[in-house]
Amino acid sequence: MRSLINILELSAEEIAGLIATAEDIIADPKKYAEACHGKKLATLFFEPSTRTRLSFEAAMYELGGQVLGFSEAASSSAAKGESVSDTVKVVSCYADIIAMRHPKEGAPLVASMKADVPVINAGDGGHNHPTQTLADLLTIWREKGRFENLTIGLCGDLKFGRTVHSLIAAMSRYENVKFALVSPEELKLPSYIKKDILQRKGIPYTQTTDLESVMPELDVLYMTRVQRERFFNEDEYVRLKDSYILTPEKLKTAKESLSILHPLPRVNEISVAIDDDPRACYFKQALNGKYMRMALILKLLGVKV
Ligand code: CP
Repeated sequence: MRSLINILELSAEEIAGLIATAEDIIADPKKYAEACHGKKLATLFFEPSTRTRLSFEAAMYELGGQVLGFSEAASSSAAKGESVSDTVKVVSCYADIIAMRHPKEGAPLVASMKADVPVINAGDGGHNHPTQTLADLLTIWREKGRFENLTIGLCGDLKFGRTVHSLIAAMSRYENVKFALVSPEELKLPSYIKKDILQRKGIPYTQTTDLESVMPELDVLYMTRVQRERFFNEDEYVRLKDSYILTPEKLKTAKESLSILHPLPRVNEISVAIDDDPRACYFKQALNGKYMRMALILKLLGVKV
């Protein structure tokens, strides 16, 4: 039985295999329509979500399976003090696979050690979000046709942005990838990620507070939201929330081939005026998330089509 807690638990070959499955699902969805008949997915969301929970649920329905779960801790027995360990032990009796989001870093890992079925980390605090990374990777693959030789700008909240942490880990395995880290001083990428991934692997990166200074060199621009829910101090959030707002004006020096990604939800960090720009990929990215979650469910359940 295998879970997915951190994106690095999947080898580059396995990621290539998931992308191939997702491409096959896109080409021929009917072939997969009964693949998970009789199987159930439990979505245990202790923190709000639109895309991740609903795309997991849509993924299981489109595979012919069924879904149960809860969308907030308050409607589960966690509100009465039940532990994550007990919750997943019980849910293992009702479902074949679990997708869990939790505000506490490490909660899905604990769940995976206690559950009797595979557990997928659907986001744990400011730590990891491996299935968002699968969506990001399919988007980069479909837009660029490669993972090598890319300069990737990561902009916004790089401190608490779990999607950024997982994406850096995933992309660090490919040849000649460079990162431009763009954030306010207070929201810089944690030093453990710089040390354990970027410096250890000798991956080139620059750090700046100025998005426009790096714009011309970028192949991919990954925008992120400043996350109110991760701040202890509302004044600090208010001071930093509008640090980066991408507008058509700011894209004037960008490559024609730039791909703009965002894990969403967006607040105001990408102007809606950019939505019709052919370089905007964030809604395609949300759709890609469903296909990659379908591929992942098939893999973890050992279903062959
Ligand atoms: N990208 C993402 O995780 O979105 P949700 O919070 O809506 O699931």
